Amino acid sequence: MGKPKPKKDKPLLACKVVVLEDVNQLAKKYRGKFQLTLKTIKKKGYENCIDPAQNMLLVQWETLLNKICHEDPVIAVENFVDNEGPPDNFTYVRQNITHGLANDLLDPNFLAGCECFPRCSQNTCSCPKNSGHKFAYDRNKRVLLPPQSPIYECNKRCKCGDDCPNRVLQKGLTVRVCIFRTDNGRGWGLKTREFIPKDMFVVEYVGEVITSDDAERRGKLYDERQQTYLFDLDFNGDPTFTIDAHEYGNVSHFINHSCDPNLRVFTVWVDTLDPRLPRLGLFALRDIKQGEELTFDYTCGQKESKTSNEIKMYCACGAPNCRKYLF
Ligand SMILES: C[S@@+](CC[C@H](N)C(=O)[O-])C[C@H]1O[C@@H](n2cnc3c(N)ncnc32)[C@H](O)[C@@H]1O
Ligand SMILES: [Zn+2]
Ligand SMILES: [Zn+2]
Ligand SMILES: [Zn+2]
Repeated sequence: MGKPKPKKDKPLLACKVVVLEDVNQLAKKYRGKFQLTLKTIKKKGYENCIDPAQNMLLVQWETLLNKICHEDPVIAVENFVDNEGPPDNFTYVRQNITHGLANDLLDPNFLAGCECFPRCSQNTCSCPKNSGHKFAYDRNKRVLLPPQSPIYECNKRCKCGDDCPNRVLQKGLTVRVCIFRTDNGRGWGLKTREFIPKDMFVVEYVGEVITSDDAERRGKLYDERQQTYLFDLDFNGDPTFTIDAHEYGNVSHFINHSCDPNLRVFTVWVDTLDPRLPRLGLFALRDIKQGEELTFDYTCGQKESKTSNEIKMYCACGAPNCRKYLF
């Protein structure tokens, strides 16, 4: 076939699409305006290093994740680096697992709801005011508060509807992401498949809610294996509970640490007003480009403080201001 001749009324658009990006979306967007010729370019070396059987396991895992997350934006999985298959002993969950530990704390009868109808605004909503705090989001659901501020979202007892601007973290993952194999030994990572504006909620840090005593025990084991998945819920002094995303978690399980991160953590109360049991929201610290790896600072996020002094984990985040060690 020869080169397509551009029609006079439609200019020719030349663009490269990264593997696994959504060609159909692109076609839908530009078909009417441009002459389109789409072709797939294989990444160099890819065909030599991937074991087809292992790749099939990743495809099956990707299908399973999207079945579990059918209400969320699509999750992609890619490994162009080595032959690592899906992680062992990891179960994908969309919400924290509490093991009944906090059943009484999560009783909706202990919640206070607001009277706003059909939706809440800065001026009307009592949800944050009840706890002496400010309304967290603007009309586009971008967080307005300075770092470390607590966020109080609307809950089951509120009169407002599902589209209230004070219901954000509770709605789940907001962007299409890709679990990918990093090429510098950091294992899996997570990248965004679309642009994320500054202050937008991205995903909740989800895992098992365990007591901090249990976390102490598990932490010793994880330290030996140089793994960090524990996040203390110590908003007000010493933590009572910790979130462990090691065995149960969502895509946040795959978010690596960076000394120059693009996400930051806010503590968010939804299903309980108990100060010991916030949920953890990861929000964009700045505009994040399509294809960028998503990262947060494990130390500022108060994550995994149980590493003993002898065990130091080398940081491979690659940021110019890298502190060289994770902990
Ligand atoms: C929450 S997990 C992130 C996902 C992990 N890469 C995986 O494959 O499951 C944390 C672990 O990722 C690795 N990791 C995360 N950030 C890193 C960094 N900046 N440098 C080196 N290793 C990192 C470490 O092994 C750490 O224990
Ligand atoms: Zn509301
Ligand atoms: Zn309200
Ligand atoms: Zn670093």
